[in-house]
Amino acid sequence: MDTPIVILNYKTYLESSGIKALELANDLESAASESGITMVAVPQAADIYRVSQETSLPIFAQHVDSISPGGHTGSNLINTLIDAGISGTLINHSENRMKLADIAEVIKSCRDYEIESCVCTNNIETSKAVAALNPVAVAVEPPELIGTGIPVSQAQPEIVEDTVKEVKSINKKIKVLCGAGITTGDDMKSAMDLGADGVLLASGIIKAESPKDALLDLVSKL
Ligand code: G3P
Repeated sequence: MDTPIVILNYKTYLESSGIKALELANDLESAASESGITMVAVPQAADIYRVSQETSLPIFAQHVDSISPGGHTGSNLINTLIDAGISGTLINHSENRMKLADIAEVIKSCRDYEIESCVCTNNIETSKAVAALNPVAVAVEPPELIGTGIPVSQAQPEIVEDTVKEVKSINKKIKVLCGAGITTGDDMKSAMDLGADGVLLASGIIKAESPKDALLDLVSKL
């Protein structure tokens, strides 16, 4: 992942599901090529193959289960997701939290299969714990701000700044992203000014009248 990085988590909004997952990927692809900024699509598992066939965007899964091939009905197996087209995954999103042992296992699988791991955390302490596991990226998101439109980079700058400081002191190669409420160019610029390598976001883009314009605005102040 080159910096600055924009990771768009599609979650399970209808505006980013099915055929709309593809439309959003096209918007991401043109915004990425117009701006030169790395943009990553994170569709639902069922939409990964469709998006990977039609775009050349980097695609992450929203969640990978800590399982091996076999009897695990309803789970997300890393091998299948890689076949479908992912080059990385979110891990431990606040809306799909995992046990520490499972986070460690999935980070290791990502390393073994040479895909990228972006672990979501809810505070500075968790970010430090996760950094010790050496993922490619840590994305700090205060859960109370998720989906509110109140940007973490402006409402709680200290959590971004301190997460950057603590994580980089453990391993300076780990990318640090922030998320929750990030929507505008000012929100992203504040995140980068605080030392972040990029942002993880969802509703501000997915719910926008024109997601492509919203993406271009997001990166307009870099
Ligand atoms: O994964 C992104 C996230 O949880 C932030 O969501 O809607 O506040 O941008 P949102």
